Amino acid sequence: MDVAVLGATGMVGQRFVERLVDHPFFELVAVAASGRSAGKRYCEAAKWFIGEEMPAEVRDMVVKEVDPSKIKADIVFSALPSAVARKVEPEFAEAGFIVASNASAYRMAEDVPLLIPEVNPEHLDMIEVQQDRRGWDGAIITNPNCTTIMAVLSMKPIYDSFGIKEAFVVSMQGLSGAGYAGVPSMAIVDNVIPYIKGEEEKVEEEGLKILGSFNGSEIEPAEIRISASCNRVPVLEGHTEAVFIKAANEWGLEGVIEALREFKALPQELGLPTAPENPVVVREEPDRPQPRLDRYNQGGMAVAVGRIRRCPVLDFKYIVMGHNTIRGAAGASILNAELLKETRKL
Ligand SMILES: NC(=O)c1ccc[n+]([C@@H]2O[C@H](COP(=O)([O-])OP(=O)(O)OC[C@H]3O[C@@H](n4cnc5c(N)ncnc54)[C@H](OP(=O)(O)O)[C@@H]3O)[C@@H](O)[C@H]2O)c1
Repeated sequence: MDVAVLGATGMVGQRFVERLVDHPFFELVAVAASGRSAGKRYCEAAKWFIGEEMPAEVRDMVVKEVDPSKIKADIVFSALPSAVARKVEPEFAEAGFIVASNASAYRMAEDVPLLIPEVNPEHLDMIEVQQDRRGWDGAIITNPNCTTIMAVLSMKPIYDSFGIKEAFVVSMQGLSGAGYAGVPSMAIVDNVIPYIKGEEEKVEEEGLKILGSFNGSEIEPAEIRISASCNRVPVLEGHTEAVFIKAANEWGLEGVIEALREFKALPQELGLPTAPENPVVVREEPDRPQPRLDRYNQGGMAVAVGRIRRCPVLDFKYIVMGHNTIRGAAGASILNAELLKETRKL
């Protein structure tokens, strides 16, 4: 299938490009960005920040405008700022494209799947509702906020085995989560910033939709209370989160560890190219996970969980960490598109 990346010059856009150039299902045929970049060669428009060389296949591609009439592809991956996504993603869906979006604009729309393929693959059925309601040939599917993904992926095996009544999530989020120009070095070096605009609300709301059930016409949100406190820390890549859980049913620490360790789901069964062998890797060392050591676990697609222990206030607590621009963004979105292709026979 032919695919294009919207917002291809940015932090997440580059991760898309890196992961799509050799993809077995998808052929990267176009890159698009703002009017500042359109018309330039990709190597002139994009300052390559993600290490190693910019892939040769993409260097000379001419960056296109973000306009459905200028792009020919089956799927567009969107790494656009949310305000831009709000306007253009429906235009692409209406023009017949599948839009696999990272942006927050439509995540909570009632007819848009908010997917983690290991957690709620059945929510893809919302596409039919969406297309009926909106009269689109294409569709928008979204992946969650990068902090939500790590927390909810680790909660899923616990939720299935023991239920969850309440959860606290305290994040320590890497700088790349704010984009290249995101946080000035003078603000973050030697510092922690205890505020990320809109982030806590996203973690608190998105998890309930993802763990909710789709009844054929709408999502019934999961009955969990989630409270989040989000912090920006001077780490380049990787979000680390302290999670505290009150279970809904009988639980035991060994059972929690086993549920996390053995967790596998549909992407693993289908052998999707981007799926990690184990979506959750359990670390036993007392000082893991750490972003520098654990962020590239299984190509950056697995989250690492460690320090699983009793909590004297709720029931138990642990640390989860994952790569925010891979598992939390581009890799997540590509996995969504792989799931769609394999299960809907696109
Ligand atoms: N970073 C993360 O970890 C992360 C995780 C999950 C979700 N997200 C979401 O993913 C999206 C991209 O984030 P990012 O961190 O990659 O941002 P970024 O580094 O600032 O990149 C933004 C991209 O959008 C393009 N763009 C900006 N304004 C535009 C316009 N008016 N029209 C068309 N294109 C425009 C930029 O092109 P130019 O280079 O031409 O300006 C660039 O390619 C955001 O919605 C963000 O919330 C990010």
